[in-house]
Amino acid sequence: MRLEQPRPSARELDVALFLDSLGVKLPLAQEREDGIELITLQSPAVSFLEAKDNRAALLCFRSSGAIYPMSLLFLRGDTEFTFCHSTLLLDSYSGNSNIAALLRQKTSEFFSGQPGKYLSGPWPRWATLVLKGQQDCRIVWNMKPTLPVAVEVFSKTVGPVPDLPLFPSVYSYNNPYVENLLEVGLPNLAGCKRALVLGTGAGLDAVCIALANNIPVDATDINPIAVANTIACARRVGKEGMVSAWVSDGFDRITQSYDTIFFEAPLAVEHQHERDPNRFDLGGRILKQVLAGLASHLNPQGALYLMSQPDISAYLPATGLKSEVRRIFVPKSAAAIHEIRHA
Ligand SMILES: C[S@@+](CC[C@H](N)C(=O)[O-])C[C@H]1O[C@@H](n2cnc3c(N)ncnc32)[C@H](O)[C@@H]1O
Repeated sequence: MRLEQPRPSARELDVALFLDSLGVKLPLAQEREDGIELITLQSPAVSFLEAKDNRAALLCFRSSGAIYPMSLLFLRGDTEFTFCHSTLLLDSYSGNSNIAALLRQKTSEFFSGQPGKYLSGPWPRWATLVLKGQQDCRIVWNMKPTLPVAVEVFSKTVGPVPDLPLFPSVYSYNNPYVENLLEVGLPNLAGCKRALVLGTGAGLDAVCIALANNIPVDATDINPIAVANTIACARRVGKEGMVSAWVSDGFDRITQSYDTIFFEAPLAVEHQHERDPNRFDLGGRILKQVLAGLASHLNPQGALYLMSQPDISAYLPATGLKSEVRRIFVPKSAAAIHEIRHA
C-alpha cells in the first residue's frame, strides 16, 4: 500500500521557487550521513541579491535521506562588508513539525560558532574580511496588498485580501507607482484578450489584471527572483494557470504581440544615484529599448500603459508611436502614467 505524501505547504513551494530561480539544485540523498551541508552558488541570478562576487552559499541539513535548505548566506559591499542571511526555515515541512524543531536547533548551533567558521566554509577568503554588520534578507510572508485599487480587485474576485510573499531583491508591491498605473490602466482593458506586464516584480499588477478581467497575462522581468515571486503570487490567488512568467530583458524574449502592455519602469536617470535596478535605469537604456521595440509587440488598437517620468520625449522613437500623459503624480519626484499607441 502506498502512503499518501502530504502536499507541500504554500511556503515550501515558495522556497522551492526562490531556490530554483537562483539555479540551486539540491543534491539527491545518496548514502550520506545526516549533518550540515553547504552548497556554494555562483550564478548571474545571485547578482540580483547584490551579493559580492555573485557568490552565495546555501546552508542545508541532511536528515534521513532528505535535504532541507536552512539559510542562504552571502556578503554585500565593496570595501566594507555586510553579512547577509536569508532564513528559509519553516514552521512545518510536509506537515511534519518535528523536523522544523531539529532544523532550528541545527541552524542556531551553526551560527553560535565564530563567524570565521561559517564564512570560511563557502569561500576561504570570506573568513579574512572585516564585517561591519549583518542583514536579514528573508522572504517576507506576513504582508498583504494595501493599495485601494488592488484591494478592490481582490474583494470583488477572491474575497478577503490574501497575504502575498515578497522575495529578497524584489521591489515591494505596495508602492504608489503601481497604484497609479493600475488606476489608469485597469479600466481600459475591455476587449483585451491577453496582456503583458514588463518588469513584473512581485507580480501584483499581473495578478490584478488576471483577476479583474479573467484574461491570461504574460509577465516578464530581468530578475529571475521576481519571476519566481510572480508565480508564487499567482498561485496564492488561484491564477497560476492564467499568469505565465519568464525572464526577459525588455522585449528580448517576447515573441507575441498584445492588446495591452503594462510597464512600471525603473526611472531613467543620467547619473547613478544609488545601485538599485528596481528604481533606476542608467541612461534610459531600458526605456529606449522597450519603446523602440514596442510597435512590433503591440496589436493595431493596442496600448502600452507606462509609468515613468513626465517627459519621455528623449526616449521615444522619431516615428511610429503617439504618446499621451494620462496622469501626473508626485510620490517623491514627479512621475506620470503614459498611454502609448501606434501613430
Ligand atoms: C519599479 S519595479 C516594478 C515592479 C512591479 N511591477 C511592481 O509594481 O511592484 C521595476 C521592475 O523592472 C524590472 N526591470 C529592470 N530592468 C529590466 C529590464 N531590462 N527588463 C525587464 N525588467 C526589468 C526590475 O527587476 C523590477 O522588477
